[in-house]
Amino acid sequence: GTGKFFVGGNWKCNGTKDSISKLVSDLNSAKLEPDVDVVVAPPFVYIDQVKSSLIDRIEVSAQNSWVGKGGAFTGEISVEQLKDLGVKWVILGHSERRHVIGENDEFIGKKAAYALSEGLGVIACIGELLQEREAGKTFDVVFQQMKAFADSVPSWDNIVIAYEPVWAIGTGKVATPQQAQEVHVAVRDWLKKNVSAEVASKTRIIYGGSVNGSNCAELAKQEDIDGFLVGGASLKGPEFAVIVNSVT
Ligand code: G3H
Repeated sequence: GTGKFFVGGNWKCNGTKDSISKLVSDLNSAKLEPDVDVVVAPPFVYIDQVKSSLIDRIEVSAQNSWVGKGGAFTGEISVEQLKDLGVKWVILGHSERRHVIGENDEFIGKKAAYALSEGLGVIACIGELLQEREAGKTFDVVFQQMKAFADSVPSWDNIVIAYEPVWAIGTGKVATPQQAQEVHVAVRDWLKKNVSAEVASKTRIIYGGSVNGSNCAELAKQEDIDGFLVGGASLKGPEFAVIVNSVT
């Protein structure tokens, strides 16, 4: 793998004050391998609760951020506000925001550039739909999504790429280690050709899509899988710890 193993838990639009209090307490008492970056992304409304109760060992991410400085943007959350709460990361370009909410490449690229300019780390998500994979367009799709990020961001220092094939998200249909590895290699190669050899060798590329405590070990063995972005299984503290500890 490349760099330090990185495991993110994306809680999506789940939880209550009570269930999150239980999850935080399970995470606080879990035994986590030291050489792993561990990040959790609660819904906005619970970020303050999580920040004030979770151990500092685990960093907090937002699941989205506004594209520029805060102001008259009803319903949005600014990067400045996230920083005020002690948030270190933001997930951008998640498939649910692309395909359910309708965010496009250009908007996502601008969000990434703004978040980076304010010092947040960006978990930049890419991934193809099932029909795109079946049409043999997987590489075209992920390269175009990569280009949108590359065209906007000033530097890749603070970016982790999350490859999440849309057909594997929340479906229980995990990509095989070979399917994931193949795309990770292609993305790294794209970075080498289009950004630089240094960025290609330093940037972590993590996998997301139905990762759980049982399939993480095989995936983690792949040379170019540098960690995971976990949805459903991140809502269970002990199972999330198993995934964190799958670092090889
Ligand atoms: O951000 C996380 C991914 O969308 C994966 O979700 O683990 O529930 O499939 P999942």
